[in-house]
Amino acid sequence: MKPLGIGLLGCGTVGSGLVELLERSRDHLERRTGLSPRLARVLVRDAHKPRAVDRALVTDDPEAFFGSEGLDVVVELIGGVEPARTYVLRALDAGHSVVTANKALLSVHADEIFRRAHRAGVSVGFEASVCGAIPIVRALCGGLIANRISSLVGIVNGTCNFVLTRMIEDGLTLTAALEEARRRGLTEADPSLDLDGTDAMQKLLILASLAFGVHPDPARVRVRGIRELEPEDIRAALEFGCTVRHVASADGAELRVEPAFLPRAHPLAGVRDENNAILVHGDAAGQMIFSGKGAGPLPTAGAVLSDIVEVAARPGPMFVPANGQAPPAPAESRAPHYLRLPIVDRPGMIGLIGTVLGNHGISITRVSASLTTEPGRGNVKILVDAVDESTLSRALEQIARLPVLTGKPVVVRILA
Ligand SMILES: NC(=O)c1ccc[n+]([C@@H]2O[C@H](COP(=O)([O-])OP(=O)(O)OC[C@H]3O[C@@H](n4cnc5c(N)ncnc54)[C@H](OP(=O)(O)O)[C@@H]3O)[C@@H](O)[C@H]2O)c1
Repeated sequence: MKPLGIGLLGCGTVGSGLVELLERSRDHLERRTGLSPRLARVLVRDAHKPRAVDRALVTDDPEAFFGSEGLDVVVELIGGVEPARTYVLRALDAGHSVVTANKALLSVHADEIFRRAHRAGVSVGFEASVCGAIPIVRALCGGLIANRISSLVGIVNGTCNFVLTRMIEDGLTLTAALEEARRRGLTEADPSLDLDGTDAMQKLLILASLAFGVHPDPARVRVRGIRELEPEDIRAALEFGCTVRHVASADGAELRVEPAFLPRAHPLAGVRDENNAILVHGDAAGQMIFSGKGAGPLPTAGAVLSDIVEVAARPGPMFVPANGQAPPAPAESRAPHYLRLPIVDRPGMIGLIGTVLGNHGISITRVSASLTTEPGRGNVKILVDAVDESTLSRALEQIARLPVLTGKPVVVRILA
């Protein structure tokens, strides 16, 4: 049996999951891989915090950590950019392969990290950085490498998906659903990273770089979160035969993170709670779906541990170099849309809106109104046929000049 010393940077939610899984799966892993992974050293912020690790292995001193004997693979589970970046680069320069679950780090510094790993002749495993237990990194770098990927679309943020599922199925408000997510340990320390779409954007950047072999510019990703959705939008989606999901998509070079209406037959519509799923379209394979648990200590630790075994068994670069080219983005995205327009309750208002849409060649397919005598509380909800976004925004600009709107319209794409 070959011993494999793990230097663990960070022992919080995922780190503790890894410690538990190392214990549980030791015999299984030894039989299946011939490797005997064990903790060699653990670096944390507070060495006095109680945790299920031999106290003698735990330190809060980076010099003691990097000076330790017997580090074969360094596993970074601190999160964020610094000091994670400094530690990862230091480990690579010292000749250690690195495994990380850190999408915030990779979405910005992947190029630097993989170049440094290449120079040192070691590997970087990062399966756990996107969609927890789902082996999407291996699929894109391995099983699908012969495919030209034209697009991918997925539910990659478990928190948003849980919140939306509870709003849809239990009629909760966003605040109440978020509170339940928090009670179940599904939120980041700062939930705005989930709700405002940053977490999904970081994962999308990693997925797009793997799918297309490029490092997309984060500034060019269109990012919207789910805070703008009201229970009224959820009810409207159901009334119109759809569900609501927060989706990340790469249609060639066009990257977007946004709430979307999905017809009930859409392959992502049945992905509930904190689960994730990704649809990938490759020229040889056609459409494939990958789904499973996107977060949580054990599912994520399982992906980390599989990377540990992989980089130990096959040292050497494990990353597709960024020398590809994304397929061109469509000239303009065209899709049916849902519009919620807050309006004053006066006769003829809906007719005025219909006229403006018609003048722009936009066909209305469904209308539903909830008008009250309370000022500022009325809404008209409209489904429109496939329309390009520039035409729709010109029509909305004109509607905004009518004396009918009392607030900002909510506009949501409907995915085919
Ligand atoms: N949680 C999930 O379900 C999940 C899923 C997929 C990916 N991830 C990713 O996994 C990584 C870890 O997430 P997590 O949820 O396990 O985070 P976490 O619970 O906050 O744990 C962070 C760990 O890092 C340690 N740490 C923080 N700052 C440090 C510093 N300056 N020096 C040394 N140690 C430091 C903390 O030490 P103390 O314990 O002493 O405070 C703690 O042990 C992140 O990149 C996250 O995005 C998480």
